[in-house]
Amino acid sequence: MSSVLFVCLGNICRSPLAEGVFRQLAGAAGLDLLIDSAGTGDWHIGHAPDPRSQAVAARHGVDISGLRARQLTADDFSRFAHIIVMDDSNRENIRAWEPERHEARVNLLLDFVPGRAGEAVPDPYYGGPEDFEETYRLVRAGAEGLLRAIVGGGVAAGQAE
Ligand code: 4NP
Repeated sequence: MSSVLFVCLGNICRSPLAEGVFRQLAGAAGLDLLIDSAGTGDWHIGHAPDPRSQAVAARHGVDISGLRARQLTADDFSRFAHIIVMDDSNRENIRAWEPERHEARVNLLLDFVPGRAGEAVPDPYYGGPEDFEETYRLVRAGAEGLLRAIVGGGVAAGQAE
């Protein structure tokens, strides 16, 4: 069984959305994957996703209301085969927990979208509803590409380490 951890800064906007969308896609594909999300920051530990993320997810038929934020741990690098970050600052921040040697592959979510490798899913926290809609669109494209990569065994594409 493969395993995927989505990571952003607060674990209330982008990564819970990615978790919810990817869970739905993996479930529809009949795949039994370990799927979770975490933040590098500690401000929102135990909190439900941002109401704007919950709303955009619900508009697209995805229920993320039951998710609760947690902070990344060093154990995550051994528990998960794939650690999927949203932007370069997340990639920098996770180094604080990253063991010197580990097997997890770290990628940006958009590495899995043709033509968008290396690009960020921008932080919508200080934005409006239209920013959350754009976040959803990017997250959805990334989740679809990631699923294709896992099913096809092509997950080493992009910036895998
Ligand atoms: P996220 O968005 O990283 O997509 O969950 C943010 C949520 C909260 C904060 C920053 C980004 N914050 O500063 O509290």
